[in-house]
This record gives sequence, structure tokens and C-alpha cells, in this order.
Amino acid sequence: MSALFQPFSLKDVTLRNRIAVPPMCQYSATDGLINDWHMANYTGMARGGAGLVIVEATAVSPEGRITPGCAGIWNDQLAEAFIPVVRSIKAHGAVAGIQIAHAGRKASANRPWEGDDHIGNDDARGWQTIGPSAIPFGAHLPKVPDAMTLDDIARVKADFVAAAKRALDVGFEWLELHFAHGYLAQSFFSEHANQRTDAYGGSFENRSRFLLETLAAVREVWPQNLPLTIRFGVIEFDGRDEQTLNESIELTRQFKAAGMDMMSVSMGFDTPTANIPWAPGFMGPIAQRVRDEAGVPVSSAWGFGEPHIAEKAVSDGQLDLVMVGKAHLANPHWTYLAARELKIDKPSWTLPAPYAHWLERY
Ligand SMILES: Cc1cc2nc3c(=O)[nH]c(=O)nc-3n(C[C@H](O)[C@H](O)[C@H](O)COP(=O)(O)O)c2cc1C
Repeated sequence: MSALFQPFSLKDVTLRNRIAVPPMCQYSATDGLINDWHMANYTGMARGGAGLVIVEATAVSPEGRITPGCAGIWNDQLAEAFIPVVRSIKAHGAVAGIQIAHAGRKASANRPWEGDDHIGNDDARGWQTIGPSAIPFGAHLPKVPDAMTLDDIARVKADFVAAAKRALDVGFEWLELHFAHGYLAQSFFSEHANQRTDAYGGSFENRSRFLLETLAAVREVWPQNLPLTIRFGVIEFDGRDEQTLNESIELTRQFKAAGMDMMSVSMGFDTPTANIPWAPGFMGPIAQRVRDEAGVPVSSAWGFGEPHIAEKAVSDGQLDLVMVGKAHLANPHWTYLAARELKIDKPSWTLPAPYAHWLERY
């Protein structure tokens, strides 16, 4: 019996299987506003059979976008554009999730296929970035962020809360906070980015404060019966890995106590000099450690896009949910083909008849 094709329940939400589409920026919005591209993109992946489709990192404020093409949810008009997308994801049997985000010192960049580097200071398309300290990421992202004042910190937390409320209002049933990948929240936790000497920097407790306060504030407005998850970089691969992982696991316990329902275990990406041991499913054992030591359900991504690898990650107890990203870009019907490859006897779900009639007949 397949573990990957067992349903998964978290709070009042049940996914039809353990396959999730992780958030993947499309860099195709205009001033934060999504369009037909996003509709087609997310509809295809929901139709393809994934249990959960998480909409891309969606900025809680204009300066929180990674690029000028990133999606936003900082006003009602932007939020309402998600209504047909949510409806379509649900109509195809998937649960609709969204990741809300602030890119911090990595914001104001060109799209990946236009250089992936910071937009020059003299280019009107760009904007001033903010971060915990006035320390740039470096390499292709050299812009020096403004060190956030306490007012800035309060404003960004309020932006996350407002974004969460809007996400709920337009029908999302799964909310993910982007606390990973060197963006704002992750950079508060990281000594690579955070050299503050006030209550938001220095000790483990202080570096955790922005993340825990943001989580607690969002949990107040996000219903208790719906999943609230965090994507968090638990490791940097910067040579201090055991120390970072131990701190991250302790913070995960605190996230759980503050109302987080599940963690999407990822990497920190806080330094351009990280030495990442890329390999299929290499985050699986790390995610399992978080799962076992912090006692939370986990998902992870990075190289699980081969059906047998995804199946094994769940059956071995590494992951509760498997994030399959780029393989879904290659083929939005990845889940359908995975079910066939894993010889799922009677999948509870198949493609809609206008496709399935032909594909299952011959
Ligand atoms: C085009 C693209 C956009 C991405 N955007 C996001 C994002 O918005 N938020 C996020 O947390 N990760 C993002 N990621 C990372 C993916 O969620 C995922 O972790 C990564 O693709 C590795 O999984 P895979 O090997 O299955 O592709 C993005 C990845 C890609 C390829």
C-alpha cells in the first residue's frame, strides 16, 4: 500500500494525498497583481492531483517583494484577484494554501531570468530594502538594507497580520509564513544578517523574537481550526550546522507552543558562501530530526520529484507531506503519473473525464 497516497489531515483540513506543490514564485505579477498566468498555473497543478497547492511567496507589503514581478496581498484589490484561483484549486479537489512573505534585504532584485541580482540604486524599478541590520547579503545581492527601527518591526508584523486576514477572506484554508531562505524573518534569526544589540538581536531568545511575535500575532487572526505552517531554514550549511540545527529545533518547539501546526523544513540561505550538499531528497533526514525532536509534523522539498523517492520519504517516516516543486513545472499532472508509476490500485482520484477517458482507455 502506498504511503504517499494516503490522505493527510491537519486541523479541520484533509488532503487527498501526501503530495504538495510548494510555493513557487512566478515573477509574473504587475505591481503585486496576479493575472491569467497564475490562474492557469495553479489550476493545472490542482487538476494534476496534488493534495495541496501553496500559492507562491506573496508579499505583505510592496517593499517585501523579491522582484517587481512578485505577487502581493497588501490591499483588498490584490487579495480579491486570488478569489478565482482559490475557487479553481478547490474545484479540482486540492486544498488552497498561500505563503505570505517579506523578502527583507533580498528584495528589489531582478527576475531570475533577468539576472537575479539587485536592481541598481539608480534604477527606478528598484526600492530601498530593510533588514535587521545594515548588512548586505553580498555576492549578487549587494544592496545595503536600512536597519529596521522598532516602528518598522511593528509595521511589518502588522502587515503579516493584515495579509493573513485577507488570505482568509478570499478563501485560503492553509497559511504558510515564509520564515526561510534568507528573507526577512529568517534573517532576524541569522547571525549572518542580524547584529542588532537591542531585544531583537544577539542571544538565541532575541534573534527568535521577531519570528515568534509575528507567529503569535498571525495566530490570533488565523482560525484555530485551519492549518498555520511555517517554512523555516533550519540549517545554513555554513560549517556551524549542528549548532544552528539545535537552535532551530528548539525554536521549532517554541513555534509549536505558539500555535504552529506544521513545519516545512528548509535551508537558511543567509550567506552566499554556504556549501550545500545537493542530492535527491537530501533534506529528508534533517526534516525527520526536526519531526522527531520537536514533535511536529513536517514537510520538505528539494529533489523529491521522483515518485519512488517521494514514496520512500513518507514510508520511512521522514516526511508527513512531500513538496514536489520543479517536477510540477515540468508536468502539472505529476501526481497522476506518480499514481500510475507506483501502481496505485484504485486511486480515490483521477484526472477529470475529458482527459482521463482517453488516457486510461488505451
Ligand atoms: C521557480 C521557483 C520559484 C520558487 N519560489 C519559492 C517561493 O515563493 N517560496 C518558497 O518558499 N520557495 C520557493 N522556491 C523553492 C521551492 O518551493 C522548492 O523548495 C524548490 O523548488 C525545491 O524543490 P524541488 O526540487 O521539488 O523543485 C521556488 C523554486 C522555484 C524553482
